Amino acid sequence: MHSVEGKTIRLRLAGSDDAAYIYSLRVNSSLNEHLSVVSGDVEAQKRWLLNYKAREQAAQEYYFIIERLDTGLAIGTVRLYDFIDGNASFCWGSWILDENKTRYAAIESAMLVYEFAFKKLGFKSCHFDVRKQNTKVIAFHEKMGALCQRESELDYFFTMSPASYERFFSTKSKYLVSES
Ligand SMILES: CC(C)(COP(=O)(O)OP(=O)(O)OC[C@H]1O[C@@H](n2cnc3c(N)ncnc32)[C@H](O)[C@@H]1OP(=O)(O)O)[C@@H](O)C(=O)NCCC(=O)NCCS
Repeated sequence: MHSVEGKTIRLRLAGSDDAAYIYSLRVNSSLNEHLSVVSGDVEAQKRWLLNYKAREQAAQEYYFIIERLDTGLAIGTVRLYDFIDGNASFCWGSWILDENKTRYAAIESAMLVYEFAFKKLGFKSCHFDVRKQNTKVIAFHEKMGALCQRESELDYFFTMSPASYERFFSTKSKYLVSES
């Protein structure tokens, strides 16, 4: 498995050569308002990615660069991690799209995450957290069928089931595949 392809974007596994791009996203003040603060520099990011590669080899985590299909340009990142009890549940995050994104890259990348995790890896559920102030992203997940299970002072904690994703997919598959 090297990439997961949609209609206008693909997810490809990140490598240590992506350190500078990932670092540039994490320090971009128009994108990082609701993300955890990065410490260190590009070299630290590179070391982190090298450690991540071992987790990827062990099928414990997948960190993807989101690329445009038309030009191959990198437009963002998304990461699957915190795999619980084999394939009981996975978490996703590190979700960022920059100004070069395709119009529906957000829906497409979220759908590709669920396609990959539920249909290819066989996960039974999904969990993730969103900062309470990130209202646009909260609305995005609720429209997809995610359920808020609890909250802390800072975050809402959501789950998403394969059945909810299937309901979404049944009316929104046009965002993922070209209509013939
Ligand atoms: C989170 C992030 C990747 C989402 O991408 P985005 O492009 O802002 O997503 P949008 O909600 O604008 O969705 C893109 C398009 O899909 C549409 N869309 C979203 N959900 C949809 C749905 N369920 N059905 C139909 N269309 C939908 C939107 O209306 C929008 O189209 P428009 O431009 O015509 O209005 C991006 O905002 C980002 O990088 N944010 C900073 C980092 C961050 O906060 N990450 C999340 C941490 S939890």
